[in-house]
Order: sequence, then C-alpha cells, then structure tokens
Amino acid sequence: MTNRIDASDQEISFDDYDEALNPKPDENDFDKILEVALSRRGLLKGVLAVGSVATLGSLATIMPGEAQAADSRFAFDAVDANTLDDITVPQGYSAQIVARWGDPMWSDGVDFDHASRGTAASQEVSIGDNIDGMEVFAHGDKTLLVLNNEYTNRKIIWGNREEGKSESDDDVIKGKMAHGLTVVEIAESDSGEWAIVKDSPFNRRVTPDTPMVMTGPAAGHELLKTAADPAGTTPLGTWNNCGNGSTPWGTYLACEENFNGYFSAADEEHKVSAELKRYGVSSKDWGYGWAKVDDRFDVSKNPNEPNRAGYVVELDPANPDSTPKKRSALGRFKHENAELVVNSDGRIVVYMGDDERGEFLYRYVSNGVFAPGAETDSLLEDGKLYAAKFYDTGAGEWLELTPESAGMASMAEVCVHTRIAASAVGATTMDRPEWVTSNPKAPEVYCALTNNKNRGVKPNAGGDLTPAAGPNPRDKNLYGQVVRWRPNGGDHTSDGFAWDLYVMAGNPTIHSDAYGGSDNVSEANMFNSPDGLKFDSNGILWIQTDGNYTNAEDFAGHGNNQMLAGDPATGEIRRFLVGPNECEVTGLTWSADKLTMFIGIQHPGEKGNSHWPEGGDAVPRSAVIAIRRDDGGLMG
Ligand code: FEO
Ligand code: CA
Ligand code: CA
Ligand code: CA
Repeated sequence: MTNRIDASDQEISFDDYDEALNPKPDENDFDKILEVALSRRGLLKGVLAVGSVATLGSLATIMPGEAQAADSRFAFDAVDANTLDDITVPQGYSAQIVARWGDPMWSDGVDFDHASRGTAASQEVSIGDNIDGMEVFAHGDKTLLVLNNEYTNRKIIWGNREEGKSESDDDVIKGKMAHGLTVVEIAESDSGEWAIVKDSPFNRRVTPDTPMVMTGPAAGHELLKTAADPAGTTPLGTWNNCGNGSTPWGTYLACEENFNGYFSAADEEHKVSAELKRYGVSSKDWGYGWAKVDDRFDVSKNPNEPNRAGYVVELDPANPDSTPKKRSALGRFKHENAELVVNSDGRIVVYMGDDERGEFLYRYVSNGVFAPGAETDSLLEDGKLYAAKFYDTGAGEWLELTPESAGMASMAEVCVHTRIAASAVGATTMDRPEWVTSNPKAPEVYCALTNNKNRGVKPNAGGDLTPAAGPNPRDKNLYGQVVRWRPNGGDHTSDGFAWDLYVMAGNPTIHSDAYGGSDNVSEANMFNSPDGLKFDSNGILWIQTDGNYTNAEDFAGHGNNQMLAGDPATGEIRRFLVGPNECEVTGLTWSADKLTMFIGIQHPGEKGNSHWPEGGDAVPRSAVIAIRRDDGGLMG
C-alpha cells in the first residue's frame, strides 16, 4: 500500500502515528500562541542562565535550596550512564531475571522458541510481552506477581516472517495473546533466586478476549452496546495496559492506554465519529491486524466497541476465576496508571494521567469510605471525577466533571467521553502525564510529564491550546519534567492545591538555558523522559525513563534508559540502574519483606539492536528482574 505509515516500523511513536492519521486542527491564533510561548521561554532562559533561585521560586518551579544536599539519603554509589546491552546496578547490588516474555507458566507449555517466537497456543499459556506496570501481592504464604503486558513489537514477535509482518491468522492471534495481563506465582529459592512457580493454581493469563464486566455510570449506556453485548455490560478483554495501581483491599488496577491503535476498518475510507477521533481511533490500526481475525476490532462494523476500552480494570489476583471489572467511574482516556490514596477521612482518591500530548491529569474521589473488611465494590463505582487546572501562581484546582460542567446529557457520557468533558471545563493541557505517585511520608503527589514536542507548537487533539505555561514551561519539550502538588490542608479531597516542579530534565552539557534542566540536574545524573514514578515505603522517589537513547546531540551523555532515585526533601537525584539497549525501564514493586525490588525491562532491541537477556543471537525479550543488596539489606 502506498503512502501508508506503518507503525510496525517502530520509527515513529504511537502519538506521531495517531497525529499522522488525524492531523491536528489549524489554529488561527497560532502566531499569538507562539509569541506568548517564546516570551516565557525567553524569561525562563534568562532565569536559569543566571540561576536566580528567587525568580525561579516565583515561577513555581524548583524549590529554593534543593540543588545540593549536604547529606545524601542514598546508600549506593551512582551508576554512570552507559550503552551496554546489559543491566547495570551499583556495586553491592545484584540483578537476576525472574520471568521473560514467552516463558511457559504451566509444565505442559513449551520453552520459548527463538526461531519461531512461539505460536498463538504457546503464547496463551506463557508470560505476555512488553512488561509494564506490576505489583506483588502476598497471599497467605504465596507471592503473586501481576504484570501488565502492554503491547508487542511486531518486528520482534513476527521477526521470523519477511519484513516482520504477520503471514497467518495464527501470527495475528499470537500477537493478540501476547497482550493483556499475567498473574504468576513466584517463589524464592534458598539461595535467594526468584523463579516462576509453574502450575500454580493462581497462574492466569488475562487476554484481549477475557470476559469482563463494566461497572459505574457508563455500564449499560447506549454508547457501550454492541451486537454481541446488547446490554452494554460485558465487554471482552483488556489490551495496551500501561502503568498500574493497587488497592488496600488486595486488588490490582490495570490501566488501558493506547487502546485505539488496534481498531481498523475493512474500508479504509470509513470515517469515524468526532468522539472516536478525539481518542485516535481511525480506519487504520498500528499494524496488529486484529480486525482480520476478530470483527470486534472493525470500527465500521462495531462503532461502539472502542467505547468499551480506555478504562481502569480491577483484577483480584487471589481469585483466579474472578471476572475483572472495568471501572468507568474513573473515566475513559489513555490511562497511564492509577495512584490510589486512602484519604484521612477514609475516602478513596485516585490520581490518573492521560498520556498523550496536551491531554489532562485527573482525580477521582469516592463517595463512600474505606474500612478494612467492609464492602469495597462501590468505592471505585460511585464517586466524583475531576480534571486539573494549574495556574502560573503556583496554585491549582480540581474542576469537577459533571453533565452540567461538561455540557453532556449524563454522567455516563462524561465517563465515556472524559477527554471532551475535561476540554469543556478548561483543564490544563499537560506534557503527556505518565505515572503519578504519592509520597507515603507526606501529603504530596508527583507526576511524570514525559515530554511534548508539540508544546507551544500546536493544540491537542481536541483543539485546546498548549502555550508554554505553568508546569509545562518549555516549548517543544524534549526532556520532560516531574510536577508535584500538595493538596490544601493535606486533604486529598480538597479542591485546591499548591504545585511546583520537582525536576526539569535536560542536558546541561549542551544547553545553558531551560533545556539544560533544573538545578538538581547535572552531567552526572542527567536523563530524559521520566515515565515510571513510584515512591518506596521510605519516601524515596524512584524515576524510570522511556526516552531518547541515541546518546547523541540533545541526548549526548544520557546513555540507555535508566532508573534513578530522588530525595523529595533535598531534590537530590542519583542514577541507580541502566537498562540494556533500546529498552524502557518501567514497572516497580517489592517483595513483602522489602528485601527484593522487582522492575520491568520493556522492549529491549525495539529497533533491532539488542539480544538481552540471553545474548548471542537470541531474540530480545522483555523481562522482570529482581534486584537485591548483596548484604541482604532492605530495598525499599
Ligand atoms: Fe505506556 Fe504512557 O506509557
Ligand atoms: Ca509509561
Ligand atoms: Ca512513555
Ligand atoms: Ca512503554
């Protein structure tokens, strides 16, 4: 096909692919936006060049005095940036592979075959691909590990085929079965090595075909009804699960992110509705071909099917027969993760980012309160939904999304067309909100704003302007930043908050302006595109990156993607780990005794240049690794 952009080439991002299919509207006031953005950039440039902390403070960026910590809280020596096809951890720490894409979870499964990269049948009983969010659950004396399997690199999973394209229905279904969730019991040997427990009764694959139930305001709404499910209450499956969350009642929250890229239409001229377009759904998919084997993914035949994805899915890992629940009360967008906080009054607060250029940050507040042992089902079904507004003064507020504020007919509609509702109330367009995490030691919340090359350049998919301002202060933001906010009165249900930037990533060896990064970024710890973000129980902020690893030009010296530790009080940031070539480091959880930290290595060799973890000529495989201190000390 001519002029077809093939996302399977992996040379453009999902966002770029969606934009190419759905070009953003022209903005009449474009010159004006640019003028404002440039003057702000000029201001910041001047400020950072002279390092005027006082002026920075007034712009609500870096807290004064955070740059150099006299006493570090970190018990490890910084790891240098590198481009090794390996995991690098500090001296005194060891990393070990726990589970890889394609490892069988039952003893009648077959070991991963590097020549064929498996079949649909082998994939369905094996660890899924491209591990992202993850959580360990202690269940009695069992350790259950739940993994998101976000997507699959077509040139890798179909690398046995010419041009890395599917050649059979089995190839397509293999790709489909590599998506979803994996629940696997793991156990530690006497020597401290973690491994999969094959045949555990808790082992389970949740795939794009697993029956689910829709809950909350959208359940049963017209927009959710399909020929296969005329009641609009029993959607099938989950896919493109990015970050995660967990609840104090022992369930896992899987977040559906780029769900749009799996839908297509047999007729490429088919036009989708404006609402579907806002979510990037079009007549072309990203090359997965699911509509070829499953009509559900043909939008011309099932125009409501995309309305049944884009939610937070709650899964009970302790009950392998349980039906996962899609929680429409938490809104529908490209969910990154779901950071759940139990407020001091017992209400449940969930913070969530929508990861696309110029999209929004959200908060959910339950109407009911959590009490251990009491009913919890309504807590993620019945509540209020908000989008964040940030002011340049350093203040912010949560704008409630209701039928009235959004100009919609019902709360169901708000929960399906959440992006459109947030645009209607004038929420702040953000630089791609990725993971959100709350500090267990203080009422403050952090969100990674990974990057946004469109900042100050063009509006978001809804036509909302994206001037450089507030927590998104840099035009054409290559590097990303971490914003944090403190709810007024330490009350997560308060509608007001104060914000600042914890860090602006950058490259101080190339740039002496705002693109050099904030004062807590140096040649020794520089990185780009913060994505995974999670506090440990001691209040250390772990930052994982999904950025540009060319190690050249604007990114010279950044090396491969990595994980760093941040001290929220001093601003100190220290590099802890570097991942193998062309990977992203994402997902973070700990064993119940906190002696092991588990992280995910996603898409090693996404451009064809890794053989990690097995080396030689091996196919690169996403994997979970366990990291321990050699002296047996705590890891979180
Ligand atoms: Fe799947 Fe926004 O990262
Ligand atoms: Ca991410
Ligand atoms: Ca990312
Ligand atoms: Ca990813």
